[in-house]
Amino acid sequence: MTGTVASGAPTLAALTDDVGLLYGADWNPEQWHPDVWREDVALMRAAGVNVVTVGVFAWATIEPRPGRFELDWLDRVVDLAHDSGILVDLATPTASPPPWLGVLWPSSRAVTADGVRMSHGSRNHFCPSSPHYRERALAVARVLAERYGEHPGVRMWHVGNEYGQVCWCEHCAEGFRTWLRARHGSLDELNRAWGTAFWSQRYDEWREVIPPRAAPYLVNPTQVLDHRRFASDQLLALYLEQRDVIREHAPGVPVTTNLMGFHHPTDYRRWAPHLDVVADDVYGDPADPHDVVRVALTHDLARGLAGGAPWVVMEQAAGAVNWRPHNVPKTSAQLRLDSLRAIARGADGSCFFQWRASTAGAERYHSALVPHAGPDTALHRAVVEHGAELARLREVVGTRVPARVALVFDWPSWWAAEEPASPSQRLRVLPQVLAYYRPLWEAGVGVDVVGPDADLDAYDLVVAPQLHLVEDVHVAGLRRVVERGGVLLLGPFSAVVDRDAHVRTGRFPVPFADLVGASGEEWVPLADPVDLRSDLLGDVRVHDWAERLRVEGGEAVATVVGGDLDGCAAVVRHRHAGGGQGWYVGALLPPDALAGVVRACLDAADVTGPAGVRAAADVEVVRRGHVTFCLNAADRPRTVHLTGADGVWHDLLTGADVAGDVPLAPHGVLALIERTP
Ligand code: GLA
Ligand code: ZN
Repeated sequence: MTGTVASGAPTLAALTDDVGLLYGADWNPEQWHPDVWREDVALMRAAGVNVVTVGVFAWATIEPRPGRFELDWLDRVVDLAHDSGILVDLATPTASPPPWLGVLWPSSRAVTADGVRMSHGSRNHFCPSSPHYRERALAVARVLAERYGEHPGVRMWHVGNEYGQVCWCEHCAEGFRTWLRARHGSLDELNRAWGTAFWSQRYDEWREVIPPRAAPYLVNPTQVLDHRRFASDQLLALYLEQRDVIREHAPGVPVTTNLMGFHHPTDYRRWAPHLDVVADDVYGDPADPHDVVRVALTHDLARGLAGGAPWVVMEQAAGAVNWRPHNVPKTSAQLRLDSLRAIARGADGSCFFQWRASTAGAERYHSALVPHAGPDTALHRAVVEHGAELARLREVVGTRVPARVALVFDWPSWWAAEEPASPSQRLRVLPQVLAYYRPLWEAGVGVDVVGPDADLDAYDLVVAPQLHLVEDVHVAGLRRVVERGGVLLLGPFSAVVDRDAHVRTGRFPVPFADLVGASGEEWVPLADPVDLRSDLLGDVRVHDWAERLRVEGGEAVATVVGGDLDGCAAVVRHRHAGGGQGWYVGALLPPDALAGVVRACLDAADVTGPAGVRAAADVEVVRRGHVTFCLNAADRPRTVHLTGADGVWHDLLTGADVAGDVPLAPHGVLALIERTP
């Protein structure tokens, strides 16, 4: 099954068994004098930092000229960390090749869809298919693996950084053709899959097939979809070839790379089985009070990718980032809140970009655990305090977040749903996923974000917000949810296309119409709002999207009143004899109405939030193992009402017993276990 780390492979426990929850940062000593390294390590120890990622952008320091490796400094750094009891997550520096590589081999630099070749001077300018880049990247990875593979201080390997570049050069065109041959077998099959009878695109020879480069008008959507699949696989191949070299020299040491949540170019569902540890980079916006819900969703994705096993936040900001137009810093309370949210949602590590703020380079205005002003700062004091409280959470290490709700998300479906020439650009996948997730977040129920190929049998409610592309092989698994008595909720524009993004013919949602008891014939992006009548949801106004749906066996939960769609169902439910329910939402519902639908589905599936804890909707309540976390997303005080058998709980963060109405400071957190009398 995808999303599960292969059995027998090293896991995060190889580190957390020794040190508990991981707490650390990217450490870039190559930017500093060795005197600073010693101060760094002393400060790390004082802050409870127990892991550092080293060398992630140090290629030019490690290999200043092709084939000339200078590693004495890295020996000292790794020894220093190790002697201080700080675990090293050693990075291969291959995200940013030194200038010499692109100068010696210009074709190692990536080319945009418009044919512009990238220059050095930033980072990530390499072409993923370039034989020169790959050879040199593997060479430096091999040198590091040989030298440090058996170093007792190197406890994890970190390949590259935030893989995401896409290139349209000739090397990549060749790689694309190779990938297409493997996928489609023959040109005939490729012509069928891409539907090349349209606009005279039929390919007669393989060399005619190219990546979707700049073109006068709309490009073939299946060509684009396959190219996205290829580009993700191509990056994964880079990861894998380094992973294999490291594995040879460091068997038993986990290997990972840092992911980026819902990152468009990379289908992490195909990556996850190859990562010993799922590691994610997370940058919530402290200026946006609603962004915490998106961040929680992203954490549930990371946990889903890990197959429910513990994962780590590899990078987050301690204060401000420098890449938004206006970089509001996190407060100390938000630093702690964000870190604990990840722990609550299954992370066994909370790490940051970066340890010490750079004084030069493009990220010198990005926050760090040690600011330019030094350790005598509010931020650094918060870092030290947080290190101490993470140590008090050791008992959550290795525990799981129970979930009876699955939210189905799929990269190829996302790609296909958002091609430029679709019925409406107002229907977007991530906003839809978030809209369906928000009421689940508010209800405090555990949610696993999983792929359509996941084993859904463990879930009582399965929500697929805009699962536009559904492969034939995944239909049965989704249907089974209802057939075995569960609840399936499908959002608008779902199950429209097959694996090649060809529209399924018949009344939609074609593979599920009988299950939801309704079928449709037309998507209707709205010129003017339409009103719905609903006993369950009250009066609802829909602004952007409805569908021409008729009820066939199910019941209309909401119906359009007036206009051309008068009488058409907008939300339908079909109750089946075995207790299962199929729901279909054929409209872009406003948040309150959608929350009503989701809550009704939770009721139907008999899913409730953690027992014994009640709080306002903006207090995030998450159960992990035997610990109930209450995280106040509001910048105002809130109260948590504790009930339960004896109503006496223990807060692991403060060590205090609490009962009844417990005040929660703005952005405050409780980590509660029930006291057994
Ligand atoms: C990511 C990258 C880091 C750095 C930060 C800035 O985490 O991996 O190298 O650029 O973003 O926020
Ligand atoms: Zn290329």
